[in-house]
Order: sequence, then C-alpha cells, then structure tokens
Amino acid sequence: MNEYTSILARFKDQVAVVSGAADGLGKAIALRLAGEGAKMVLFDFDRLQLEKTLIEFKARGYAAIGVEANISLEEEVINGFAEAYKAYGRIDVMINSAGIVGPTSTSILDYPVADFDKVYQVNLRGAFLMAKYALTYMSKGGYGRILLLASIAGKEGNPFMAGYSSTKAGVIGLVKGLGKEFATTGITVNGLAPAVIKTAMNEHTAPEQLAYMTSKIPMNRLGTVEEVAAISSYIVSAENSFSTGFIYDISGGRATY
Ligand SMILES: NC(=O)c1ccc[n+]([C@@H]2O[C@H](COP(=O)([O-])OP(=O)(O)OC[C@H]3O[C@@H](n4cnc5c(N)ncnc54)[C@H](O)[C@@H]3O)[C@@H](O)[C@H]2O)c1
Repeated sequence: MNEYTSILARFKDQVAVVSGAADGLGKAIALRLAGEGAKMVLFDFDRLQLEKTLIEFKARGYAAIGVEANISLEEEVINGFAEAYKAYGRIDVMINSAGIVGPTSTSILDYPVADFDKVYQVNLRGAFLMAKYALTYMSKGGYGRILLLASIAGKEGNPFMAGYSSTKAGVIGLVKGLGKEFATTGITVNGLAPAVIKTAMNEHTAPEQLAYMTSKIPMNRLGTVEEVAAISSYIVSAENSFSTGFIYDISGGRATY
C-alpha cells in the first residue's frame, strides 16, 4: 500500500459509457476503465461483436452492460443513455470512440457525396449526439469527464481523405467549444488525436494511404491500443481536473503542438 495504490481503482463507484466499445480503441479503453473499477456501459451497433466483447468482460469479472445503438441516430442515443442510467443510476464518464474512416486514397473530385454524408453522420453528428446526451445527465450531477476521439487527420488534414479529415476537425471544434461552455460546472470535455494505431479500422485504409500516414510518424511505428487506453484513462480520471477543451496528442511525435 502506498500513495499510488489508489490509481488502481481510479473509477471505483463510477459509471462509464464508451461508444464503439465492441472493438478497437473503444474496447481497449473500456477494458482499462473496468480494470480500474468502473461499471461499464458498452455502446456499439455491431450486435455480434458486442456480445463477444461482453463475454470477455464477464469472464474477467467486470461489471458491464451492452447497448446496441447507432450513434448517428438520436433516438437510439437517447434510449441508450436512458438504459445506462436505469442500470446504474449515474453517468460519470463518456468516451466517444465509434467512428468510420470512409473513402481513402480518393480525391475530392471522385469522393461520392453519399460517402461524405455517411462519414459525417457517424464521426461528427454521432460525437455531437453522444456529447449532448451525456451532458444532459452529467449536468444534473455536477461532475463529468467526456473524451471525444478525434484524429491527427483533423489536426493536420490528411490528403485524399476529405470526409475523415474534415469531420475529425469538426470534432476538435466541438471539444474546444464544449470545454469552454461547461468549464465552471465540474464537467470537462477533452479530445484525443491519435496517429495510426493498430486496429481493424486500418484494414479499411488503402495500403498507399496507410504507408503515407505511417511514414509521418517519427517513432517509426504504429501506436498500440494499450497506449491509447492508458492516456485515455488518465484524461477521464477525477485527478485530471484543470484541463478542458484540450486535444491530447498520441502520435509518436508527428504532432508536437
Ligand atoms: N485506429 C487508428 O489508427 C485511429 C487513428 C486516429 C483516430 N482514430 C479514431 O478512434 C476511434 C476508434 O477507431 P478504431 O480504430 O477503434 O476503429 P474500429 O473500426 O476498430 O472500431 C470502431 C468500433 O465502432 C463501432 N461503430 C462504428 N460506427 C458506429 C456507429 N455508427 N454506432 C455505433 N458503433 C459504431 C464499430 O462497430 C466498432 O466496434 C474512431 O473514432 C477513429 O476515427 C483511430
């Protein structure tokens, strides 16, 4: 027992909602928070993957429920938060990780408008809806930690990914505005801008696009989901109390600002 023992239970008695939690970064972050004591609400629209992930959580003895919801759809987000609140009676943390990459290696000249709309619906509209309804509950309790997954693409603008780059830049604007809007309430809103991390998302990225993005990382490697989970759990912990509206970096040195 020492002064740092409490770090192992930073989320004891807290409830955390994570979207996109069936796989990838969302799942890794959710596992980390559960390991630090949080009761988890896993949002995802992939029912089968969500069921598999829930089995993993139960096998580890973690408290978790699954909510099948598409974060682009307001009704499903409203019902999802209601389900979470009904199960656990509070919401302390919300991390929005659900996102899609859309067309890559594609000039705007060839970028279908329907694909842009789809990327927008998930990445920006979804982030807006998840934040809006998390804040509705957190405002009542006077405490909250929100983290929205943005991307280095939103900070720097990856070429040939107009939908992804622009919607992730939108997420960054959302974080900055909401951080200030709620600054005196006990609720913080921050973002995280990863460079390339090893997940299934990159299987949908064109090899030449992936090579371009990886070549920009000075550490000369991809990030891991565990590294993203570690910084995320700090960002949404109670001890991170004097930062809001900030976009944290996890880019292996690509963004030094
Ligand atoms: N992996 C990377 O290199 C990387 C880099 C920068 C930013 N990001 C961002 O991190 C987040 C997570 O990415 P990932 O690599 O874990 O992706 P992933 O594809 O591995 O997992 C995404 C999860 O979100 C779910 N999902 C997708 N759309 C949804 C929707 N509309 N409603 C509910 N659930 C939905 C999927 O079913 C899946 O379980 C995304 O927002 C992504 O843009 C990822």
